[in-house]
Amino acid sequence: MVYVKTPEEIEKIRAACAVVRDTFAYLGRHIAAGMTTKEVDTLVHDYIVQSGATPSSLGYCGFPGSACVSVNEVVVHGIPGDRVLKDGDIVSVDVTAEKDGYNGDACRTYCIGNVSPARRKLVRVTEECFFKGIEGLKAGTPLFDIGYRVQSHAEANGFGVVRSFVGHGIGRDMHEDPSVPNYGRKGTGMRLKAGMTICIEPMITQGSWRVKTLADGWTSVTEDGSAAAHYENTVLITEDGAEILTL
Ligand code: MF3
Ligand code: CO
Ligand code: CO
Repeated sequence: MVYVKTPEEIEKIRAACAVVRDTFAYLGRHIAAGMTTKEVDTLVHDYIVQSGATPSSLGYCGFPGSACVSVNEVVVHGIPGDRVLKDGDIVSVDVTAEKDGYNGDACRTYCIGNVSPARRKLVRVTEECFFKGIEGLKAGTPLFDIGYRVQSHAEANGFGVVRSFVGHGIGRDMHEDPSVPNYGRKGTGMRLKAGMTICIEPMITQGSWRVKTLADGWTSVTEDGSAAAHYENTVLITEDGAEILTL
């Protein structure tokens, strides 16, 4: 069921998104080589709680962290632990916060120290994929135009588009309908409506787009071990455009 949010709900989602946005501003000043992924998680957790919000990921389907912290070949759902961030790593930090019963969700991929040009390009193109994805987006846009645009940009740059994970609606729940794939055929899918809030989150790989889940039941890695990047924002669809709520 796809929900169109009321103005009151949108204000609450906006407030949750502001917490997520500020968490990244804070994290950007502190994340560094030598930290463990658990230390990154603690920074995120404490910042969210101190902002009067709740980390939605903590305990979600049993997930043990407040953020997903995914290094290099880890695509998504990296469990915070004792892996140490090294010079040259890329690390995706995916943060969802709930405030006043509503959620905001975003992800950034950070470059740690001296990152190779190839990985830098992956991170840059993944961000670009998001912005390509929302080009021209407004009420009436066919949903799968987003994925079509993301996929076109990723593949034109020689990168792969992860299929097993997709974007989603967001509101009272972190994951609501509709699914928002990062691939698709132009002109197809439901028509977006003003008042819908959706997460658009390209997950892009340097090599094969195929992924597998590790024995912990969460950590998703590329099948070929190549690096992956992830970039996400919560977006509000309006009559004449799309507003990014987590920037
Ligand atoms: N934030 C993720 C998303 O973009 C989901 C987090 S999964 C959890 O959809 F288990 F960590 F909560
Ligand atoms: Co997310
Ligand atoms: Co999401």
